[in-house]
Amino acid sequence: MAYIHDIDFLPNPSLGPAGRLAGKISDAERRGEALFAKPFPHDPSLSCAGCHVPSSGFVDHQQHDVGSGGLFKTPTLRNADFNAPYFHDGRFDNYNQVVDHFDRTFQLDLSAQDKDDLVAYLTAVGDGVQPYERDGAGATLKEINDFSTVLATAIPAGDKDIVALAVDTIGRELRELTEQYPDRKNTSVSGGEQQRVLARNGLKELVLTLRRIEMAVAAGRNADAATEFRNYRNLMAAAVPALLASAEPWSLFNQGVHDQHYAALRQVMRSKHLSH
Ligand code: HEC
Repeated sequence: MAYIHDIDFLPNPSLGPAGRLAGKISDAERRGEALFAKPFPHDPSLSCAGCHVPSSGFVDHQQHDVGSGGLFKTPTLRNADFNAPYFHDGRFDNYNQVVDHFDRTFQLDLSAQDKDDLVAYLTAVGDGVQPYERDGAGATLKEINDFSTVLATAIPAGDKDIVALAVDTIGRELRELTEQYPDRKNTSVSGGEQQRVLARNGLKELVLTLRRIEMAVAAGRNADAATEFRNYRNLMAAAVPALLASAEPWSLFNQGVHDQHYAALRQVMRSKHLSH
């Protein structure tokens, strides 16, 4: 539940309060927004915005028959630029085809320019800022903490399967995070060796602590598991984030280090390829 609640739309700077376009808007987008709200000529009780309600995430929480073969829940249009193909069966590859479908089905008599304007509007609404890992280790630690809340209930309940699943999931996240702090053998990164070693060791200690929790619960030693979980939480609360922060300049979260690392990796791949 915590994980699902954590999933959110990508931010879209073009969307202002109540789902209205904001910021720098083109004329086409503005005309598209007006068309979107306009009642359909042959059925004035309908409009795009009547189903895709801008002020409520572009949904109305209803099912409709829009000529696609039955009743379907109105999908949101937020971040939809990344969701093609469209409709429940993916029958449309792009917004142009979707708009043509509505034009035909509801006899909207849209001109070529109307269609382009609607597509421009949909594209602005459906946009989103791409999430890059610019925010460093913080985002991953937050995700790991969300998963850890599962342990807080599964350990006292002695639920072996859930504990094993959570330990496995968190362990994988932690190992992936560890790879962001290149070890000594990695010659593409220079400096901060001490900090990188400490960061890697801190993360390794978390993985080991989780293993001990899993073993304790599997053996029915719930009190031991609870003690280890307290250790885990203490490490997660301060020590590990501090170690990661001090190693950050020499981690792959640093764009320069990141680029250098992958350039070196490509070099290795290329020379391997050539020698075969
Ligand atoms: C009567 C309610 C209703 C109206 C009016 C309506 N839509 Fe929809 N819209 C839906 C439903 C329901 C679907 C999903 C259909 C399916 O999956 O088969 C949908 C799907 C879409 C999609 C595809 C989204 C996706 O992720 O698959 C887009 C884009 C869209 N509508 C835009 C519009 C535009 C533009 C208009 C006005 C010309 C409009 N809609 C009018 C209910 C409506």
